[in-house]
Amino acid sequence: MTKSATAAVGIDIGGTGIKGALVDLSDGRLLTDRIKVPTPKGAEPDDVLGAVRQVLETLEVTDADVPLGVAFPAIVKNGRTMSAANVAQTWIGFEAEDFFEEGLGRDIHFANDADVAGVAELRYGAAQDRNGLVLLTTLGTGIGTAMIYNGVLIPNTELGHLHRANHKRDAEAWAAYSAMERDELAWDAWAERLQWYYSHLEFLFSPDLFVVGGGVSKHADKFLPLLDLQTEIVPAVHRNNAGIIGAAALALAGEKPGALDSITEDLASRSTR
Ligand code: BGC
Repeated sequence: MTKSATAAVGIDIGGTGIKGALVDLSDGRLLTDRIKVPTPKGAEPDDVLGAVRQVLETLEVTDADVPLGVAFPAIVKNGRTMSAANVAQTWIGFEAEDFFEEGLGRDIHFANDADVAGVAELRYGAAQDRNGLVLLTTLGTGIGTAMIYNGVLIPNTELGHLHRANHKRDAEAWAAYSAMERDELAWDAWAERLQWYYSHLEFLFSPDLFVVGGGVSKHADKFLPLLDLQTEIVPAVHRNNAGIIGAAALALAGEKPGALDSITEDLASRSTR
C-alpha cells in the first residue's frame, strides 16, 4: 500500500449482495464495471471469503499492489466484527480483518459498510463541505448509519437498531427496504414507517442534513418527497455505490489500524482550511 495510490478496489459486503469495483481516488469515479455476486446463504466467513475472491477475480485486480478496502455490515472494532444482524453469528467477536488478509493473501482496509458510505459522501458526494451534523442512513437489507460531525466520522453508530416504544421489532426490521419488500408495502405505506424513523432521529440528534443511501436511493423521488421533516434530506450522490467508493477510499487513510480516524482527520483539516 502506498499513500500516493490513485486507485483502489472497494468491496462492499452486504446482507444480500457483495459488490466491488476499482475506484479513482481523486474523484470517486468507478474505473471498472460494478461486479455483484449474491451473498452466500447463511453468510458464513469461508463462503463470504469465496465470494469476495470471485469479485476480485472477475475485476481482474488480484494484484496486491492495488490497495483494497472491504466494508462489512457489522460493528467493526480494531479489525474484529462485533455484531451480526444479517450475517452468520460466527462473525461476532471474529478477527475478520486478519481472516480476509490471510484468505486473500494481501493487506486490506476494513470498516463498517455504512461508515464507509459516509466517508464516500463526505469526500465525493452529498456531505462534501457540509459542517454540523450529517447523518447518512443506508436503506437496504438492514439500516446502516454514519454520523459525521464537522467532517469527522464517529464510527459504529448502529442507529438502525433503535427501538420503537412498545414494539419488538427494531427500526431496521420495521423500516429497512427489506421490510418494505417483505411486507409488500406501497411507497406511501413504507414512507409512513420512514417518517417515524427519521422524525425520531431528528428528535434525538437535531442533524443538519440526512443523506439516504442504499439501493432504493435510486428511487428517492418516490419516497423522500412524502416525508415531512425539518431537516434537509437528500439521496446519496453515489447511491448504492457509496459503500464501494468509501471502502476504496480507506486506502487514502494511511497506516492501520485507525484508518477511519486518519481519513476523517484529514477531511476535517481540509474543511477548515
Ligand atoms: C448492521 C450495521 C450495518 C447495517 C447496514 C445493520 O444490521 O448492524 O452494522 O451497517 O445493517 O448493512
